[in-house]
Amino acid sequence: MHLSRFARVRLGHSMTPLEPLRELSRVLDGPQLWIKRDDCTGFALGGNKVRKLEFLMADALAKGATHIVTHGATQSNHVRQTAAAAAHLGLSCIGLLETRLSDADDDYHNSGNVLLDRLFKCLLEERPAGCDMNAEIELVAERLRGQGARPYTIPGGGSNPIGALGYVLCAQEIVTQATELELVIDSVVHATGSSGTQAGLVAGLQAQNSGIPVLGIGVHKPRDIQEENVYRLALRTYDLIEARGLLSRESVVANCDYLGAGYGRVTPGVIEAVELLARTEGILLDPVYTGKAMAGLIDLVRKGFFARDQNIVFVHTGGAPALFAYRASFDEPALLRAPRARAAS
Ligand SMILES: Cc1ncc(COP(=O)(O)O)c(C=O)c1O
Repeated sequence: MHLSRFARVRLGHSMTPLEPLRELSRVLDGPQLWIKRDDCTGFALGGNKVRKLEFLMADALAKGATHIVTHGATQSNHVRQTAAAAAHLGLSCIGLLETRLSDADDDYHNSGNVLLDRLFKCLLEERPAGCDMNAEIELVAERLRGQGARPYTIPGGGSNPIGALGYVLCAQEIVTQATELELVIDSVVHATGSSGTQAGLVAGLQAQNSGIPVLGIGVHKPRDIQEENVYRLALRTYDLIEARGLLSRESVVANCDYLGAGYGRVTPGVIEAVELLARTEGILLDPVYTGKAMAGLIDLVRKGFFARDQNIVFVHTGGAPALFAYRASFDEPALLRAPRARAAS
């Protein structure tokens, strides 16, 4: 697997730390928990999209793009990071925001990632929930072409085989770091949404014959759809990197039991996970992705899903800027609830 064959623009800080979550592991009294700090990719407050965008933006530049057109939910981390990458590279950016939570408050519609999109001078357009957003970005691209521009469209979450290369690279980092730390990793756990992160990890870990299983915690779709989306993209990514051997359907596992009332809807488990990580480790999760994934991981640990002698790596995919858009979910009564963790006592 020779990723230097693919064009890449450096945007973030790679070889993000792989560190023990000592206090969280102690409080939960289960397996040894570790964290891969992809919230520390740096660029524009970091997160998983930086890795994908290094390959996607290189492709856009190679194709002579003048405009980047992409989409996401209102509080999309992907749109924020794409807008920053476009600004950095001197390209115009148009972000279509799908209003999935029409009942949300003003913070949701204007703070957090939306505030940052505007700082990066991204032109924002809203679309109603349920719209075919990939079709919508093609319509915008068509409009721009009519005006003499050269638009480059990026699907939601940057999730196509080029974007997923970012997580093939992350899989290489994880295996290298495990070797350095003499760490036997029993499972990698992370939030899965538009599928590119999991597809890249599954393809990259299999291409290295690492034997490390991946568990995606779903934040959007039901399990059968999520796993099918990830598997299809993992196969295409596997082809792109010309990996040998079988990529089995069984290597793609998503647990979508922690979705609650749906995408972007906070659950009590999310509030607990965000508070617990802040108070035991000083680490900020987000309410939509990593909070839900960590809520799932915490519940699985409590149910004894992992053996005590196992090492579980949680990939922190970023997203903390959205905390400011969810201020009302972390209001004072919630903060004054009985402390659950040592750090809160
Ligand atoms: C913070 C964060 N974590 C995880 C994900 C999920 O990654 P993917 O869309 O590649 O499945 C996203 C996607 O938007 C995200 O913003």
